[in-house]
Amino acid sequence: MSVIILGIESSCDDTSAAVIRDGHLLSNLISTQQVHEEYGGVVPELASRAHQANIVPVVDMAIKQAGIKLGDISAIAFTRGPGLLGSLLVGTSFAKGLAIAQNIPLIEVNHLHGHILSHFILTSNQTQVPGFPFLCLLVSGGHTQLVLVNNFDDMQIIGKTIDDAAGEAFDKCAKVMGLGYPGGPEVDKLSALGKPTAFRFAKPLPHGLDFSFSGLKTSFLYFLRDNLEKDPNFIENRKYDLCASLQHTIVTILIDKLGTAARKLGVKEIALAGGVAANSGLRDAVMRLGKKRGLRTFIPELKFTTDNAAMIAIAGYYKFKKNEFADHSLTPQARLPF
Ligand code: KG4
Ligand code: ZN
Repeated sequence: MSVIILGIESSCDDTSAAVIRDGHLLSNLISTQQVHEEYGGVVPELASRAHQANIVPVVDMAIKQAGIKLGDISAIAFTRGPGLLGSLLVGTSFAKGLAIAQNIPLIEVNHLHGHILSHFILTSNQTQVPGFPFLCLLVSGGHTQLVLVNNFDDMQIIGKTIDDAAGEAFDKCAKVMGLGYPGGPEVDKLSALGKPTAFRFAKPLPHGLDFSFSGLKTSFLYFLRDNLEKDPNFIENRKYDLCASLQHTIVTILIDKLGTAARKLGVKEIALAGGVAANSGLRDAVMRLGKKRGLRTFIPELKFTTDNAAMIAIAGYYKFKKNEFADHSLTPQARLPF
């Protein structure tokens, strides 16, 4: 009999539900909350209210689009953390209620494991999956990590940021340039028209496999301030070059460590995951690195890079196969350990 998993993701500002049958994606709906735009960042209280409004219609549509009935679902996988507590509570409570009503098991998923396991979602475009062990560069709005993935349930962080995440570096620098939120996609778009080597910013490379982005952010800020004193229209006049140079710097920092880690560990496969994996410069650079080193390289489809429930459903599917179910007494955790 086939295994059908309903996945629910509500850790930040996207309400998402997905259905996966035996590892194959049937539907993946994402409702992105617009309410935060005017504040230039996610407002936690508004996020949880929007999840509350969205979750029933999003799950309903995911089930309809998958062409299944509620009674066909084998288990419900949900994001337990890390994320915003109020947002996580909505998804967790909804998942518990539906599991009780349907009398089916509940599966807890760590959001970061979900990002990494997005490479195992099978679609008509994504047919190849990584073999173990592989090295994954996980880059999102809140995390930047190098993870050695030995198995679905055996992952080891071998390097991480000591301050800001890569997504934060994109978003914060974009904010001081007056670009919208989140800034990452905007910087990516404008970069296409700029020169990546037009400007040089600080490129902090802490010892070992750790990352650091706060020095880059500061250097970017001072650079803008100095130039705005000379030319009040500096940002407007040079925004393409500024974005291209910023993106180039962030990508170089990430690739430098990924390359070092791959050599050190002697892995044969590398992968990219998380919201920043949507970045065109980073996708190209990881592909080039893989090619140069003769490594099998995995870049997720764009729709599986930023937050989505398909990645939660696939992580749930592999837990289901091992009978790893969650107790109904568990609560979400904003800082759930990796
Ligand atoms: O994984 P994600 O959707 O949410 C978290 O778990 O944090 O990642 C969101 C982050 C944001 O910082 C956003 O700016 C960044 O991913 N991002 C990008 C791009 N698309 C999303 N950064 C650079 N280039 C992009 N194209
Ligand atoms: Zn995420």
